[in-house]
Amino acid sequence: MTSFKAMLGASAIALMATTGAAQADKLTFYCSAQEDWCQLMANSFQDATGIDVAMTRKSSGETFAQIKAESSNPKGDIWWGGTGDPHLQAAEEGLTAEYMSPMRDQLHPWAISQAESAGNKTIGIYSGALGYGYNTDLLAANNLPEPACWEDLLKPEYKGHVQMANPNSSGTAYTTLASMVQIFGEDGGFDFMKGLHANINQYTKSGSAPIKAAGRGENTIGIVFMHDAVAQAVSGFPVKVVAPCEGTGYEIGSMSIIDGARNMDSAKAFYDWALSAEAQNLALQVNAFQVPSNVGAETSQSAPDMSTIKLIDYDFKTYGSSDERKRLLKKWDDEVSILPQ
Ligand code: F6P
Repeated sequence: MTSFKAMLGASAIALMATTGAAQADKLTFYCSAQEDWCQLMANSFQDATGIDVAMTRKSSGETFAQIKAESSNPKGDIWWGGTGDPHLQAAEEGLTAEYMSPMRDQLHPWAISQAESAGNKTIGIYSGALGYGYNTDLLAANNLPEPACWEDLLKPEYKGHVQMANPNSSGTAYTTLASMVQIFGEDGGFDFMKGLHANINQYTKSGSAPIKAAGRGENTIGIVFMHDAVAQAVSGFPVKVVAPCEGTGYEIGSMSIIDGARNMDSAKAFYDWALSAEAQNLALQVNAFQVPSNVGAETSQSAPDMSTIKLIDYDFKTYGSSDERKRLLKKWDDEVSILPQ
């Protein structure tokens, strides 16, 4: 009892003391991080509180679309994980609820500024840099040069060797699109996406799928968050991780309470717990190599060192805004995805 109480945030403890199990016994949990981490978070919270958790894992853009579709009759209580941009869009569109957690003073400033830019309707839980990874065996077997920059991926010899997710469903791929626009400018960024399209063998639904395929030897290069590529390498697959030479974007993985949540007390209890160092340290058990937002949580030794990566000053306010995200996705649908390959 003492150990799990110690893991809970203040409101969760108050909740257990004042409401009892009857009103606080369920949580519908929408998760957009990696499946095994989602599962571990669900099980650990359930074990810690006795609250029954029903978890569904979907990619960031897909979860945003689901919450929007359900908004007249919300079914989910909490959305944990996934890139920050669609969480910011959800906040702007009134799909998520304002909440000031008592755990907030334990967080890095980047996690709090995510909250402040969205009227406290979301908050940062981890961060990670975008990049790509490649299967070293396949690269050698195909006599391909080692890519080091974004622009390398446009070379004709990589045709059919590059995979990324669809930016409509995947937060990783939307981060890629928004990063290219920020690095190369609007026209240059779309020219890049068009050139890349010619080399893409498949747009997957989930952001990390391209590097998992590379790990299995079914794809050569996967555009993903670097931590997802590290996870493959650490699991023993022949995957090399690249921080592209031009610089790169990054994500602030986020969490939001769904507006009109049926189990609001459980949602707040989860929110506080998920911001604790102890809950964030669960990442270490499942090869999740993001940088945690709690200053007291541990970052794995294997995690990409953000201080050595050339990061752009990613403009979350602009690229997480409803108008801009819709505009960029429509333009990608209309001008990139329809091109012949
Ligand atoms: O696999 C983990 C992860 O890369 C997170 O860091 C990120 O927030 C999420 O997946 C994005 O997934 P998707 O691109 O499928 O929305």
